[in-house]
Amino acid sequence: MQGKRILLGITGGIAAYKIAYLIRILKKKGAEVKCIMTPASSDFISPLVVATLSQNPVAIEFWDKKTGVWTNHVELALWADVFLIAPATANSIAKMANGLCDNLLLATYLSLKTKTIICPAMDLDMYQHPSFKRNIQTLIHDGVLVVPATSGELASGLEGEGRMEEPEMIAQFTENYFLSDLTKSNQTVLITAGPTYEAIDPVRFIGNHSSGKMGFALAESCLNRGMYVVLITGPVQLQMAHPNLTLIHVNSADEMLKAVSENWSECHFGIFAAAVADYRPKEIAIQKIKKKEENLTLELVKNPDILKWASENRNSAQKVIGFALETNNAEENALLKLTNKKLDMIVLNTLENDGAGFQSDTNKITILDKENGKFEFNLKSKKAVAQDIIETIMNIK
Ligand code: PMT
Repeated sequence: MQGKRILLGITGGIAAYKIAYLIRILKKKGAEVKCIMTPASSDFISPLVVATLSQNPVAIEFWDKKTGVWTNHVELALWADVFLIAPATANSIAKMANGLCDNLLLATYLSLKTKTIICPAMDLDMYQHPSFKRNIQTLIHDGVLVVPATSGELASGLEGEGRMEEPEMIAQFTENYFLSDLTKSNQTVLITAGPTYEAIDPVRFIGNHSSGKMGFALAESCLNRGMYVVLITGPVQLQMAHPNLTLIHVNSADEMLKAVSENWSECHFGIFAAAVADYRPKEIAIQKIKKKEENLTLELVKNPDILKWASENRNSAQKVIGFALETNNAEENALLKLTNKKLDMIVLNTLENDGAGFQSDTNKITILDKENGKFEFNLKSKKAVAQDIIETIMNIK
């Protein structure tokens, strides 16, 4: 980040106390940092600390009441290579989404020619509130990049989602914004998510416990970085809307393969997080199967391997990332999949780890790559896991 000009906006939330550390990290990475604070944020961190660490005067008001000097927000906006707002409170996010401009930070946001990155921080119920979600969607539509909040202990004493991402990760995200070719070139990613349902008869199917959370978190993370996403999902309860998102709903593995094959050639890389049924009933009964005999035998046939298909039908620039869900000999089995399907990378999650795999909001992964690289991560929210995956993909040679 040597020489990059980061305009750091600080709004009035308790997480503001962590910004001293964020400024230090950004400065250590070689960035130039200027700060704008909302008046409310100075209750949480002293402007003197911010000015001292950033080695620049801090802008808070439109004009200095003692000297009468006006602070030129347009100049600040033009100076910045990126506007990083951390913490971004629900209040400031709502105002940004609606074009309100009652402080210097908001006026600067409205004058900006470059990207804005926001790091939301609030209590868990606020983070889930439909109005907050609506405002975030509006900002994403407007091209703002979001570093999602994480789960953990909150200032209210409650535990849940809403905690500002740690300063190291915010700095990493910002660095990736500058470094990443993907972000700059608006790449398209294809993601599969959720289960597949393989019909037995008109009312029954073979399925699995996948909720789609992992695949949707990956899609969100890519959208937040300015990428285009083709998300192909089996039956899930989740919803997502974004102008850069093509969302395709399918039921069976055959339908998923069809959707993948129709979209794959337009994509720069693919992440295959769906839990695709390996087998399907050979025949689908036209009528509901009646309960008669003591035993019922279903003949199953192999489903197409969608991931393998994508790997075999790619051009030399396309990257293919698979998942491996294991219950035993996890690493050995994942490495076999990496090699047999000729993948660039495989994301291993195993049901041997509590809080990993199906349904949960968390996951614990190990990434293995074709260069024998091995990257182990702690148990985290699926959103944070998605960020780790995307950041690792960006470094694929
Ligand atoms: O959806 P969640 O509830 O959030 O759960 C997330 C998850 C556990 C489903 C996800 O993290 C995960 O592990 N997805 C892959 C599950 C799986 O089917 O793994 P597998 O080891 O059986 O398959 C290996 C890879 O081949 C996967 O990338 C899979 O998408 C792909 N595959 C498998 C079979 C098939 N016929 N076609 C495929 O594309």
